[in-house]
Amino acid sequence: MLEFERVSYQYPSEDFDIIDQLSFSVEPGSFHCIIGVSGCGKSTIFRMTNGLLQPKSGTIRVGGVPTTEQKHYCGYMPQKDMLFPWRTIGENLALPLEIQGETTKQERWELIDAALADVGLEGCRDKMPQELSGGMRQRAAFARTMLTGSHLLLLDEPFSALDFLTRISMQEWLLDQWQRHKKTILFITHDVEEAIFLSSSVLVVESTPIRALREIPVPMDYPRTRQDLARPEIVGLREQLVDMLRKQVTA
Ligand SMILES: Nc1ncnc2c1ncn2[C@@H]1O[C@H](COP(=O)(O)OP(=O)(O)OP(=O)(O)O)[C@@H](O)[C@H]1O
Ligand SMILES: [Mg+2]
Repeated sequence: MLEFERVSYQYPSEDFDIIDQLSFSVEPGSFHCIIGVSGCGKSTIFRMTNGLLQPKSGTIRVGGVPTTEQKHYCGYMPQKDMLFPWRTIGENLALPLEIQGETTKQERWELIDAALADVGLEGCRDKMPQELSGGMRQRAAFARTMLTGSHLLLLDEPFSALDFLTRISMQEWLLDQWQRHKKTILFITHDVEEAIFLSSSVLVVESTPIRALREIPVPMDYPRTRQDLARPEIVGLREQLVDMLRKQVTA
């Protein structure tokens, strides 16, 4: 579904490649969380995948085709500033459809109403983002990401600003959405337990510059419940991941 082949990236103001010949691939329909210390380059991987940044070298493919040769191949939910405050919720959701330009206004409103119902936000179409709670805004931003119609979704710390209870119910909600819509999801988080609960395998950044992602399988079937997190092998996995993050080196 997604494949990085010896991809490198250097920010113009830096004198080294923050991403250095990185190769990895992700199967269709999988759910992977990416974890790694702050500033290690996780969001940079997403910004190259969605075309906001151009790799210095290497190739990124989605569905076997280089991303430079296609459009609308992924949905992206950035780390912050998810909704435009001057647009209503409905107008925010209309954005990806307006950009694609393949729908009439009437068709757009039908798609938006269906997407809002899907995330439990019926009746919020004409509200402004600031009138919604944090969890509702996240669901609206997710609905907008879904409306891109892409099979690959890149979610950058979507739940980090939420309180604990809202966050765990959003995690359950997201797993349900993923299973119903059969998308491929890459999800950046700093929360090791969140990474375990969501992922089929966790992709760990062990060093900066990023030369590899270490894939750690999560030995739990879906659907999952939070009780599964108390299983001894899962508690052990959590400690293993925390240790890996603590040992992260800067070369
Ligand atoms: N536009 C930029 N110009 C120069 N350096 C940048 C730029 N954007 C990010 N960086 C640097 O690149 C590194 C990686 O940034 P990135 O946003 O990918 O980190 P991250 O792993 O997502 O961190 P966090 O977990 O804090 O979100 C950081 O050290 C950051 O300072
Ligand atoms: Mg980031």
